[in-house]
Amino acid sequence: MVTGAAAHELPKLPWADDALAPHISPRTIGFHYGKHHAGYVRKLNAALEGTDAAGLPLEKLIALGAEGGDYAKYFNNAAQIWNHTFYWNSMRPGGGGAPSGRMADLIGASFGGWDEFRAAFAKAAGGQFGSGWAWLVAEGDKLAITATGNAGTPIAHGGKPLLTCDVWEHAYYLDYQNARGDYTGAFLDHLINWEFAEANLG
Ligand SMILES: [Fe+2]
Repeated sequence: MVTGAAAHELPKLPWADDALAPHISPRTIGFHYGKHHAGYVRKLNAALEGTDAAGLPLEKLIALGAEGGDYAKYFNNAAQIWNHTFYWNSMRPGGGGAPSGRMADLIGASFGGWDEFRAAFAKAAGGQFGSGWAWLVAEGDKLAITATGNAGTPIAHGGKPLLTCDVWEHAYYLDYQNARGDYTGAFLDHLINWEFAEANLG
């Protein structure tokens, strides 16, 4: 029994709630961050209270949860907390479009160029059936695009994500209704935080 273990916290947003408008409205951010992301934190802390798992870092909970067994019940909320924090940081006002520098070189070497990367990422985001996430990940000295369902996350299996786009309906429905492609297009053209992606290369 761990007593007095620090509860998981809802990280602050890296920008004001209206900073991504008109591509993502403050109303969407209000629900998505203030209700959904906050809800995952609240539910995880409630589930952990008084257990041996309280006090474990989020990444450890995710890795153990992905293996199944006693920790599996923590996986969804723990992974959704991590994924959402990563998603907020994957965006910035005035972002998106083709990267420059090291990321431009890697995008070119891995996909052929911005246009090819853009089409492949949009296809992965659009092709994820139901709720999930589209990711740009590093694999060796190349980049790759992947998608996960529900709370799935590359870090559960030793992956190295650089950025992510949340394709759960709660990420875009208020602004785009069912037009997921318009939302992922705005993410690609106006929101991607390439500096964050590059920093994640290490
Ligand atoms: Fe979300």
